Amino acid sequence: MLQHFDPNKDYGTPASLSEKLVTLEIDGVEISVPEGTSVMRAAALADINIPKLCATDNLESFGSCRICAVQIEGRRGTPASCTTPAEAGMKVTTQNDKLAKLRRNIMELYISDHPLDCLTCPANGDCELQDMAGAVGLREVRYGFDGENHLDAPKDTSNPYFTFDASKCIVCSRCVRACSEVQGTFALTIDGRGFDSKVAAGQDEDFLDSECVSCGACVQACPTATLMENSVIEMGQPEHSVVTTCAYCGVGCSFKADMKGDQVVRMTPYKGGEANHGHSCVKGRFAFGYATHKDRIRAPMIRDSIDQPWKEVSWEEAIGFAARRLKEIQAEHGRESIGGITSSRCTNEETYLVQKLIRAAFLNNNTDTCARVCHSPTGYGLKQTLGESAGTQTFDSVMQSDCVLVIGANPTDAHPVFGSLMRRRLREGASLIVADPRHIDLLDTPHLNDSMHLPLRPGTNVALVNALAHVIVTEGLEDTDFIASRCEGDAYSKWRDFISDERHSPEQMEAITGVAAADIREAARTYATAKNAAIYYGLGVTEHSQGSTMVMGIANLALATGNIGREGVGVNPLRGQNNVQGSCDMGSFPHELPGYQHVADPIARGRFEAAWGVQIDNEPGLRIPNMFDAAIAGQFRAMYVQGEDIAQSDPNTQHVEQALRSLDCLIVQDIFLNETAKFAHVLLPGSTFLEKNGTFTNAERRINRVRKVMPPIAGKEDWEVTVELSNALGYPMNYSHPSEIMDEIASLTPSFKNVSYEKLEQEGSLQWPCNDEHPVGSPIMHVESFPIGDGKAQFAITEFVATTERASRRFPLLLTTGRILSQYNVGAQTRRTDNQAWHDEDILEVHPHDAEERGIKDGDWLGISSRAGHTVLRALVSERMQPGVVYTTFHHPHSGANVITTDNSDWATNCPEYKVTAVQVEKVTQPSEWQKNFHDNHERQNNFLKEAAAAAAESH
Ligand code: SF4
Ligand code: SF4
Ligand code: SF4
Ligand code: FES
Repeated sequence: MLQHFDPNKDYGTPASLSEKLVTLEIDGVEISVPEGTSVMRAAALADINIPKLCATDNLESFGSCRICAVQIEGRRGTPASCTTPAEAGMKVTTQNDKLAKLRRNIMELYISDHPLDCLTCPANGDCELQDMAGAVGLREVRYGFDGENHLDAPKDTSNPYFTFDASKCIVCSRCVRACSEVQGTFALTIDGRGFDSKVAAGQDEDFLDSECVSCGACVQACPTATLMENSVIEMGQPEHSVVTTCAYCGVGCSFKADMKGDQVVRMTPYKGGEANHGHSCVKGRFAFGYATHKDRIRAPMIRDSIDQPWKEVSWEEAIGFAARRLKEIQAEHGRESIGGITSSRCTNEETYLVQKLIRAAFLNNNTDTCARVCHSPTGYGLKQTLGESAGTQTFDSVMQSDCVLVIGANPTDAHPVFGSLMRRRLREGASLIVADPRHIDLLDTPHLNDSMHLPLRPGTNVALVNALAHVIVTEGLEDTDFIASRCEGDAYSKWRDFISDERHSPEQMEAITGVAAADIREAARTYATAKNAAIYYGLGVTEHSQGSTMVMGIANLALATGNIGREGVGVNPLRGQNNVQGSCDMGSFPHELPGYQHVADPIARGRFEAAWGVQIDNEPGLRIPNMFDAAIAGQFRAMYVQGEDIAQSDPNTQHVEQALRSLDCLIVQDIFLNETAKFAHVLLPGSTFLEKNGTFTNAERRINRVRKVMPPIAGKEDWEVTVELSNALGYPMNYSHPSEIMDEIASLTPSFKNVSYEKLEQEGSLQWPCNDEHPVGSPIMHVESFPIGDGKAQFAITEFVATTERASRRFPLLLTTGRILSQYNVGAQTRRTDNQAWHDEDILEVHPHDAEERGIKDGDWLGISSRAGHTVLRALVSERMQPGVVYTTFHHPHSGANVITTDNSDWATNCPEYKVTAVQVEKVTQPSEWQKNFHDNHERQNNFLKEAAAAAAESH
């Protein structure tokens, strides 16, 4: 019998991965299933749905409710079908009078301790208990509520997004298992026994005070209305759903936007999503309220100067004004005097159009993207060594890893759904090595097998990776077969000579990295001798003066040990924003056309010129930092910024502000009045991911569809605005749907050749390269050869050069920065949601030793000074940092975290060195000068906005 997988159906127990099939008979239907499949799942695959309560197909079966009882020929009793594995020749009966009576009795017991308020219950119509009562034919209950019951059990409403109504709990423990098995947090337990058993969060705390990270897995798993989204309680059950992709991080989780009309009732993680398999984190699951927040920009606005109030105008007038200013500036200051920045939050199609606008309508290559400040070294470093600027694996690949090396990344906060998957593999026994100045949560994974922390000093990554490679080479741990067959020989010999030198030994490097030589040796051996070892890294690798060198060092390590080209291994950059991979793929950088085709390559350029009907500059244009410098020097006069807040996210804020103030025309397209928009002359309303069609590409190169679920608040999707601006500039663009833009991308980008919306509908998602060689995409890269030279990978020389940003007498501490789970990037979205409950200010973490020296206590206001600037944050004394290192997040603009970061940057890509700033810290009593000015300007610009809205309302 043919079985197809329906992502909307619950099969009761997880799929078995066995390749061996067994054939059994269920209610007379013959079915073959992989060995290890439960009888319940086998039946569901044959469309025979056995009643169930405690089973669900993303959790291991538990066998507590017994409602799924069946009869099996030749066996005594009525075994639970969820815990009974299917066996060859089995004959199963799922329906007869005896089973019906048994199930009705069980159900009666459940219902007798359950409020009979179905008609007014928020879960009405979406309650498995209600469904099962119907399925077993229960019409009346013989036991009343007179005896002991739980009907007065209290509600826990502490979590801003969901309510726990204990009176409705049937103690099936699905929530407890979801929190452990899926999320890996172990925040819930069943306390007590028998009648007294109940679900408890943490040490019997409320949900908000417990370890709960609000991922929603328990809410998803709950078969009753016990754990329920507040939005559903308030708005009622949804009426229809649209599958789309989360717009927060680079994991790219798929969700069903459950809708009532054009209002989102809830975001349900989609089981068919191949990046998340039905799991989510607090951001994608709950933090969508920003889309309808009162602060949304709802009308286009213009002004002549940033010291003037805004004037609300029509789209036509705003676009006409912007185009006229751009043309005037080019006429007066030359073709190169303008440029633009694409967004890693917008879709591929939108990003593609912005860089096309710049190259074909502005007629220069002054395009850049926020990847400049995060993963540009990944692009450079992986291209040099492996030939392709992208991670090599799928997320699922980690389930085959025996050793996981995490460098400068914090997956449980920044890529939470992948963090949970990684934790699952670590619980199964894979070894963990974390190289990070800070003790990250992954190291506290419950039931962790074998782990090591290499707490290196900020800025010494390359010294560490060289020391690891030195051990591998000098202790004979290389994979010589892989190197001989897959790597270019000369480059390898040179690298081997270089890395074998004693100056790279752990013992020599210990004084630099601060990590004990013995630990480095042990880590190198663990990584090199694991059957499958995988490296995951983040911005703690790239945002350094040697970011590109470190990426190449990581690639060297994987190549030397043969950990490339199969499941469970690889080099995996964890991309921060939802579409940072896509924005790089789409040609956002000044030197590369879409698909990483260099502008100097006449063949590639010729293809774009023929398709676009223009001549494209063959010289790379300006990068973001060069744009700022040129603006201050008066040569660069106008900028179009789509969905990116450079004034908050780029380093050395004073310098950025000076550059923005120098511009004659700044056009900002965004959903809110962000920090950059405060310096703008044209403000064009942006659209959120819920208001548009398109695609995002996640950190595993997976192209996922984004589907419109509500109309854009200001009437236009972002791509439509770019089209109109281009037309107003005299370069015609004509698309009626983003699918046509994707068709153009596919026709010009070899790695996207076979991508189309039609194919995405068929396949669900596609991982590029997707071309004739790989018609349905490439989950694992470099399986047989590398897209570089003659197909062989290139080892790279990675000399350690210490950053010039060092601790000194004046600035004795090193500041490093990172993210927190509940907030996202510059916080523009998450700060406008209830995620504020977890993190409503950035704080400075200081080691007790440094705190004691300075008399610092928790909550003290601290002045933080660097050679770039000064800001003030509150203190948290924490042992997560090593002495001499302080740490903060950068989610709140008034914190001014980037007022203190310097303009040091990566030698190859100009990616800023956010992760190392020498600072001094002292107790203070008032905000910094910059913070006071920030506050004043914030008030002033917001008042300009209010005045514009009031004037518009009056004229209407
Ligand atoms: S809260 Fe829901 S999932 Fe958890 S035990 Fe109760 S009914 Fe089951
Ligand atoms: S929301 Fe997530 S972390 Fe919190 S209790 Fe539920 S499953 Fe656990
Ligand atoms: S892990 Fe990332 S993509 Fe998934 S729900 Fe969370 S923020 Fe969204
Ligand atoms: S569903 Fe099988 S015992 Fe509960």
